[in-house]
Amino acid sequence: MSRLSIHKLRELKANGQRFAMITAYDYPSARLVEQAGVPVILVGDSLGSVILGYDSTVPVTMDDIVHHTRAVVRGTSKAIVVADMPFMSYQANADEAVRNAGRLLQEGGATAVKLEGGSHVVPLVRRMVECGIPVMGHLGLTPQSVNQFGGHKVQGKTPAAAAKLINDARALEEAGAFAIVLETIPAPLARMVTERLSVPTIGIGAGADCDAQVQVFHDMLGIYDDQRKMKHAKQYARLGETIRQAVRTYIAEVEGGQFPTAEHSFEMAEDSLAELSHA
Ligand code: KIV
Repeated sequence: MSRLSIHKLRELKANGQRFAMITAYDYPSARLVEQAGVPVILVGDSLGSVILGYDSTVPVTMDDIVHHTRAVVRGTSKAIVVADMPFMSYQANADEAVRNAGRLLQEGGATAVKLEGGSHVVPLVRRMVECGIPVMGHLGLTPQSVNQFGGHKVQGKTPAAAAKLINDARALEEAGAFAIVLETIPAPLARMVTERLSVPTIGIGAGADCDAQVQVFHDMLGIYDDQRKMKHAKQYARLGETIRQAVRTYIAEVEGGQFPTAEHSFEMAEDSLAELSHA
C-alpha cells in the first residue's frame, strides 16, 4: 500500500475536512498511531525532551532524527512521515540545509521535512521544494528559538507581530510549503492565517479554527503525567500511571511467587527428566 500524498492534505482543507497529526519517535508508537488512523506522523525534535531526556529541543542532532525517522518509517506504510530538521541543521548555510533535508528523505525514509521560521527561511523552503523535498513550515512559538523568546510565551499578540506572522505564512505558502504548523498563538490570529492560506494550517495551542491539530504523543497519552503539563495539550489517557501500576503488580507477583505460573513455563518430557535424575 502506498503512502498518502502531501497533495491530499490541501484537498482535505478544500473540502473542509479536518485531520490530526501526532508525533511518534519509534517503531511501536508509529505502528499504534497509524493503526488508529492518523494520516500524518511527525518525528518531531520534541524527541529531545520526551525520548532523550534533554530540557529542550536544542541538543537534538541530525543523526538522532535520522535514526528515529527510520524506525517510524519501518512501523508505518500509509501515513505521511514528516521529519523535523533539528537546530543548526538548516540555519548555517543553504547547501548544508538542502543536504540535511535530503538525508531525512534518503536515509530516514521520510516523506517530507519540517523546519521552523518565517521570512528568513523562505528562500531555503523554495530551494528545497525545487529539489523535490516537500516542506512543512512552522510559525509562532518555534521551540528551537525558545532562548531567543525568553521562554514559552504566546507569540503574535501585538498587531505588528501578528501581521508579520500572517505575511510569513503567506510567504511560506508561496515558496511551496505544503502545510504550516502554528504553535502557541492567539486563536483569532490562527483563524486569520487559516482563512488566508490554501495549504492547511496545523495548530498546537492555536485554537479550534486551524485545518488540523498536532499533539505530542507523550503529552496526549499522559506518559509524563507528573511533569509536562502544557495548556495546549489534552490528556486522552494516563499511560504513565497504567505502566507504573502494571510494573508494581509484576514486582509484587515476582516477590510473592505468583509469577511465573505453569502458563508461562515450559515442560520437559518425563523420560528426559527421568534420565536427568541420575545426573
Ligand atoms: O517537535 C515537535 O513535536 C513539534 C510539534 C510540537 C509541532 O514541532
